[in-house]
Amino acid sequence: MKIIKVQDQVEGGQVGARVFQDALQTNAKVFGLATGSTPISIYDAITKSDMDFSDKISINLDEYKGLSGDHEQSYRYFMQQHLFNEKPFKESYVPDGLNPDGIAESERYDAILDQFPRDLQILGLGQNGHIGFNEPGTSFESTTHEVDLTASTIEANARFFDDQNDVPRQAYSMGIKSIMSAKQILMVAYGANKAQAVQAMIEGPVTENVPASILQKHDNVVVILDEAAASNLN
Ligand code: F6R
Repeated sequence: MKIIKVQDQVEGGQVGARVFQDALQTNAKVFGLATGSTPISIYDAITKSDMDFSDKISINLDEYKGLSGDHEQSYRYFMQQHLFNEKPFKESYVPDGLNPDGIAESERYDAILDQFPRDLQILGLGQNGHIGFNEPGTSFESTTHEVDLTASTIEANARFFDDQNDVPRQAYSMGIKSIMSAKQILMVAYGANKAQAVQAMIEGPVTENVPASILQKHDNVVVILDEAAASNLN
């Protein structure tokens, strides 16, 4: 893993956007994207750049089950607001939150992942070490699947909703095996509340109890951390 420490999220955004730029220069075609607060400064830096994704493919990590793509808290809507309106891709895939059939939706998404191998996958980190919506205990062999969100993830995500009761209880997520099949991974974490998960991800044992620890087994990972997120590292 290549670890890059940054002063703040603005610098993290610039460094992260450079990873996208480098990927474009090496002819990357397929970009795996994430939502949440962490990638926002990277998407900001990209929208202010002259990077062009109009002949590229994007594939998002996850989506809440039960929300339509135009619901303000859906991940499709988030991507429109933070990136796609300014930097459209040729095709952008996000799991279909309105598909009630978890098996059919997972198979459909896996077929997309097979068709478009990702050159770069961006990831944020859950306080419990999750990646995508792959909570602790998820199999490292998992592909796209329907997930019951844990209480801690529902609580962490409640900040985006008017009421914690509005947070969907389920989601569709790429699996850990799907995430690991990207050629390059860009993991980003900021803040003291991520410090413990960062330490477990980088220095702890590789265990399904800390989904992000699997990244130790990937041979092309860039990790961007601010001081607070890096503060538990030895
Ligand atoms: C988002 C995602 C999640 C987040 C993680 C961190 O698509 O898959 O795993 O990356 O929960 O969220 P933030 O960035 O809001 O701290």
